[in-house]
Formats: sequence, structure tokens, C-alpha cells
Amino acid sequence: MGGPSRWTPTILILAITAISILAPVQGDDNNHVYTPCRDTTVQRDDGFTFGIAFSSRSSFFFNNNASVQLSPCDHRLSLSSSNSQLALFRPKVDEISLLTINSSSFSPDSAGGNMVAFAGSKYAARSPPAFVANSSFIVTSFTLILEFKQGRLENLFWKRDGCASCEGKSKFVCLNNQDCAIRMNDCKNRGGSMDCSLGIQLAFSGTDKHYTVLNSWYEVENLRQYSLFGLYSNLRKSFSDQFSNFF
Ligand SMILES: *[C@@H]1O[C@H](CO)[C@@H](O)[C@H](O)[C@H]1NC(C)=O
Ligand SMILES: *[C@@H]1O[C@H](CO)[C@@H](O)[C@H](O)[C@H]1NC(C)=O
Ligand SMILES: *[C@@H]1O[C@H](CO)[C@@H](O)[C@H](O)[C@H]1NC(C)=O
Repeated sequence: MGGPSRWTPTILILAITAISILAPVQGDDNNHVYTPCRDTTVQRDDGFTFGIAFSSRSSFFFNNNASVQLSPCDHRLSLSSSNSQLALFRPKVDEISLLTINSSSFSPDSAGGNMVAFAGSKYAARSPPAFVANSSFIVTSFTLILEFKQGRLENLFWKRDGCASCEGKSKFVCLNNQDCAIRMNDCKNRGGSMDCSLGIQLAFSGTDKHYTVLNSWYEVENLRQYSLFGLYSNLRKSFSDQFSNFF
């Protein structure tokens, strides 16, 4: 696609380190917006760029006010002055994708431990912050829903399934009745045997700019009974270990 690695500093208002970029979408990609901080409308089969920022929970809120969560694209947040890190992805709209961020070159706990998915400027959609890791635990499996209305991203949210997926698995701990976590000591890069790379399952819902219904979310719901990670592991799309620095 030739675009994303050459952002100009004015567009790149996120002065934080970019840690990964998604492989270009092949075929009929008619969306020419490659930065997560600009608005766009998409149709099925377009690529769509969004970001995930890793930082402390409080850094996503304006003046630490828990009722004012700003987009990581917003200058009023000072993510650039913290240890924040940014991952960029460009999945194909309405295609179920599994994004991974390889833990061998990234430790979410030292980046602040929480993540927010985001895209857009005037329509600055952002997910609530999700706990990823602290010095004791790491959550490695997430489902992110991107909800579009007539092709414009309206909403991003994390879909949780309680701790159903870690029931009976001895290496997993259920945190706050919500997240299956792995003890940091069990992670490969900390002396254990578990791969603690993050896996983010994506699904799309809503309508594209031609009012076509995006229904990969429907498929995820139906597939949940199987192991999505197993089924889609060959769709891995992040550039593992190619964490490029934009500056
Ligand atoms: C937080 O923001 C809300 C909405 O702008 C405002 O009503 C409230 O007073 C703020 N709280 C604090 C502690 O500043
Ligand atoms: C992460 O990178 C390491 C080293 O390159 C590799 O062995 C491992 O399979 C990768 N994990 C994932 C989930 O891609
Ligand atoms: C890490 O997070 C878990 C779950 O919220 C919490 O129980 C634990 O006390 C935290 N550990 C540290 C060292 O902050």
C-alpha cells in the first residue's frame, strides 16, 4: 500500500511508539485513509486502519476525570509523554481476523497495562480501556467488535465471555469474574512455558456505506463454541517482531 509507514508528523499526532502494523489488504481496497486519526467511510472488502494504544488506565481520561474518556488521537491526552505504545492494524472490513502482538518484543505491563482501540477524528470512536497486564498477570485473549453505521465507525467494544474459556485450565486464573489471565511467571519470556502473545479476535457489525450488513459478528457468535484461535490461527495478520518505529 506504500502509505502507512510514511506518515507526516502533522498527521501523526500520536507521538508514541508504533509497535506493529498490519499487512496490506489485497484486492479491492478503496479506502485510502491509512492513519487511525482521520475519518473515513468504508464498504465491505476495504481495508480499515485502527489503532490500539497501550498505557495506564488513567492516561486515557482527560484530567483524570473518569467520565471524560478521550480518543488517543486527541492532543489533550499526553500519551506521548508516558511509556505508551501504539499498535496499528489494517484488517479487511467484514472479515473475521485474529490480530496478534508478539510478546517477545512487547510487554504490555511496562506500557501501562491497559489498552484502548480507536479510530477517527471528528467521529472519534474509542473502546473502553481493557486491562491487559500488570506485574502479576496477563490477559492474552480478546474479542473486539467494530460497529459501523453506513460505513462510518461508530463504536468499538470488547466482548467478554466471563471466564468460560479458561474453566478447568490449570495455567489460567479468572480475574474479577471477567478475564482469563496467565501468571506472568508462566510466560515464556519470563521463564515459564506459556506463549503470552496477545490475540485479538476482530468482528464487524452494522452497515457499510452501501447499507450492506456487516455480519462477521454473527459468525463469531456461532463459532464461539469452537476454538476460534485454532480455526483462525493461520489468518494471523500482525507483523510479528517487525515493530517499526515511525520516528
Ligand atoms: C468530570 O467531567 C464531568 C463532565 O464534563 C463534569 O461534570 C465533572 O464535574 C468532572 N469532574 C471532576 C472531578 O472534575
Ligand atoms: C513470537 O515470536 C517468536 C520469536 O520470533 C516466535 O517463536 C513465536 O512463535 C511468535 N508467537 C506468535 C504468537 O506469533
Ligand atoms: C494485578 O491485577 C489483578 C487483577 O485486577 C489484581 O488482583 C492484582 O492485585 C494486581 N497485581 C498487582 C501487582 O498490581
